[in-house]
Parts: sequence; C-alpha cells; structure tokens
Amino acid sequence: MSIVYLNNNYIPMAEAKISPMDRGFLFGDGIYEVVPSYDGQMVGFTPHIDRMNNGLAAVGIELDWSHQQWKDVCDNLIEKNGSGNLALYLHVSRGADNKRFHAYPEDIEPTVFAFAFEIPPAPVADKSKVVGYKVATHRDLRWERCQIKSTALLGNVMHFQHGYQKGANETLLYNEHNELTEASACNAYIVKNGVVITPSADNQILAGITRYILLDLLRKEGSIPVEERPVTMDEVFDADEVWVTSSSKEVVPVIEVDGKPIGNGEIGDVWLAAQTIYSAGKLNY
Ligand code: PDD
Repeated sequence: MSIVYLNNNYIPMAEAKISPMDRGFLFGDGIYEVVPSYDGQMVGFTPHIDRMNNGLAAVGIELDWSHQQWKDVCDNLIEKNGSGNLALYLHVSRGADNKRFHAYPEDIEPTVFAFAFEIPPAPVADKSKVVGYKVATHRDLRWERCQIKSTALLGNVMHFQHGYQKGANETLLYNEHNELTEASACNAYIVKNGVVITPSADNQILAGITRYILLDLLRKEGSIPVEERPVTMDEVFDADEVWVTSSSKEVVPVIEVDGKPIGNGEIGDVWLAAQTIYSAGKLNY
C-alpha cells in the first residue's frame, strides 16, 4: 500500500482526503514538482525546490518551508515506499475556503500533498536499450505563463491526448510564429551539425530541471556546443536529431515527427554522447 504525505500526516493513499472546496480542486490553484529518485538518491532536489518556491511566489501562495523540510518529506516517502526507482510528486495548493470566490483568500492554510510513484529504471546511454519516441505536433494553445509549474494542466493534458490518440508518445508544440516551444510534458531540442539547440527559457516553456542539468553538464564537458534560441518547425523536420527531456525520462531520442523520420530515422550519436554525459553527472545536482 502506498503511503502518502498530506498536511503533516503519513497515511495510506486510500485514507488521504481533501475538501472539495480546496482551490486546487476548484481552480487548479496550486504548484507542483516531480523529483526523480534512484535507489534513494534524488536528482536535482535543490533546483526542483527552488523552482517550486519561485512558482509559489509567482502565484502568491505563502508556504514557509525550508529545503530541509521538503527533504525530510521526500526521504520519508522514499523510505516508506521501498526506495527503488521513484518519482516524488510534491503539490501545494492554496488551500480550502468555505466559498468559491476567485480572489486569493487571506486566511487559509495551503494544502500540502506528496506521494511517491514508481518510474522505470534510469535510462542508460545505449542505443540498443532505448526506444525512440514517435511524436505528433500541435499549435501550442496553452497560456502565456508556462514558466509556472501550475497544477492547472488541462492545456497540457489536451495536448498530450492529441498525440496519444494518434499512437504518439508525445506532442511537440509550436507557437503562432511556427516556432517550437516544448512538448506537452517535456522540453524539446534539435541537433543540427553537431549543435544542440533548444528554445530559450521564457514564458512559453517550463524551464525543466532536466534541461538545466543537461545544458549545464554539456557546457562544462565542452565537446557538444549548445544554443538557446528560437527553433522553427522547419528546423525540427530538417534536424539531424530531435530529443525531449523530463525528470522521469532524462534525454529521450525522437525518431519520427508527424510520421516523418528525423535524420535517418535512427537514434543519433549526439544523443548517445549527451545521455552518457547526463548519466555520469546528474547526481551532482
Ligand atoms: N513534466 N515542460 C513541461 C510542460 C513539463 O510538464 C515538464 C515536466 C517539463 C520537464 O521538466 P523537468 O525536467 O523539470 O521534469 C517540461 C512533469 C515531469 C510532469 O508533469 O509529470
């Protein structure tokens, strides 16, 4: 039985109850994080909590928790749920009011919920052990505050569903200028002539922690140039490689976009080098 954390209590998931008046339920009024953990070792814990604090500040939810408090919750969930390969889902909603009114109430306590769920083993840098993604595309129809990791994910859910219904693993999104933004639950990259290129971290994308770690490691290692700049969809279709990243998946090669092969349709050498560098360095974050 999975043990979850809810407002200071560790309880079986089936016993975890929140009010239907919780603003997370009524408005999607909350912030969340997903932190991967392999054999009890979390990847990117500090930047994940930093991003959550930025998100909470951006939406005016006051939760005065230290990194250590979050670390204790994560460590307890890992211990109670049998370490292994887990993602820690951390969720703070503005809390429950006794009425439905859009303005932020001043006198309610945030709801803090966290649980652990199993994820696949950490990907290995080996072309024969990874399955390349086939992805769909869609005009990005979400809001203009995608840098906030809000629990209001219906826009992302609808975009993911678009690809899912077509049998795709993800959906790449593009803006009104035909520029790549990200994917419905991942950041996106192209590789052209050995250069890794990814859209800049602005309000059109969530600045992924995997993205941050990957770009930092690549720049420090130095053999693969990195650019952050607008990427057109023509560049996507013309790329040598396309990748997506997220915390539970690390760096995933994309071999097909809208049914068209990327490059020669095989998993690329730059992916192999990048995932090798990521695997070697990720636990330093
Ligand atoms: N998704 N972009 C979006 C829209 C995301 O939802 C995510 C993560 C990312 C990658 O961020 P990170 O590298 O920090 O995981 C980019 C999470 C995992 C989710 O919603 O399940």
